[in-house]
Amino acid sequence: MLFEQIASCGGCLSYLIGCQHSFAAALIDPERSQIERYLALAAQHGVRIRYLIDTHTHADHFSATRELAARLQVPIVMHHSTPVPFVDLRVGDGESIALGQLRIQVMHTPGHTRDSMCLHVENRLFTGDTLLISSTGRTDLPTGDPEALYDSLFNRVLRLDGATLVHPAHEYKNRSHTTLAQELESNPRLQKRDRREFVEMMRSLNLSLPTHLTEALRTNLSGGKTVAQLLAEAAAVVPFMSLDELKEHIARNDQDLAIIDVREREAYVTGHVPGARLLPRGQLELRVNEELPDPTRRILTVCECGHISTLAAATLRQLGFQRVIALDGGMKAWREAGYPMAHD
Ligand SMILES: [Fe+2]
Repeated sequence: MLFEQIASCGGCLSYLIGCQHSFAAALIDPERSQIERYLALAAQHGVRIRYLIDTHTHADHFSATRELAARLQVPIVMHHSTPVPFVDLRVGDGESIALGQLRIQVMHTPGHTRDSMCLHVENRLFTGDTLLISSTGRTDLPTGDPEALYDSLFNRVLRLDGATLVHPAHEYKNRSHTTLAQELESNPRLQKRDRREFVEMMRSLNLSLPTHLTEALRTNLSGGKTVAQLLAEAAAVVPFMSLDELKEHIARNDQDLAIIDVREREAYVTGHVPGARLLPRGQLELRVNEELPDPTRRILTVCECGHISTLAAATLRQLGFQRVIALDGGMKAWREAGYPMAHD
């Protein structure tokens, strides 16, 4: 079978697997930052992605299933207990998905989350966050249950052939895989084989919350956009001007360029780019007609860090200001560079 493991910088692992006879492939636990890479890998291998599978509702990374499903017109697969509303193909324990000659067999393994499943394909087990290398998924996040995890591990997963390869959804030490036998022997959490001891250990882990918990749950459960995605979409339709170029425009007193500071008044009065006019982002749509009567004018938006000015420029472009650009960077970088400031 075709097998590719794709690691992203946060320790998330996703997998492209495929049938080498039919060239049908599936993506397991795709993550948003890797979308172009998945598509490139599928093209490189000459396979067509037919299924997008999330092993569970992720609380720590942004699932790419929704965006890829829209682009590829293929179904999103999750366990039937998932709260995710836009799943196309809900699967249950013991069922399998046909991928050419391959069969992806579903094991419902609740514990890390109620909708967790492991996927068994030939001698490989894609364990999601049920079983990690030398660890297990945590059970203290929404729908987690240490009792259920005990059953999923000791009464299901670990009863499979010990030579089965383990491919988890997370790995922070660059280990590519392990086997069930190795995990049984050396995974510290699996040494607690008594149910009560295992549950007590899981309840006393006291782990810090994942960095993007609320945003990940919000976007993964709703299919909504991440903040980074919103910013990237705005940046894709806006050209930028560098700090140095703006400095030159100011030095030659370029009157053709309207510089619009989109921060709040309190920030503007502490110092701004010479010649910049104040038009806070929050008032942009309300005041745009009186402040910017000429839609053909060349306009530069400026903010503190460069993000809000990009969103403001994208909004202005949508409103028909086709010569709007955003400052690449913001007032923070401008101040730090020691470039001229006005305080009027
Ligand atoms: Fe997870």
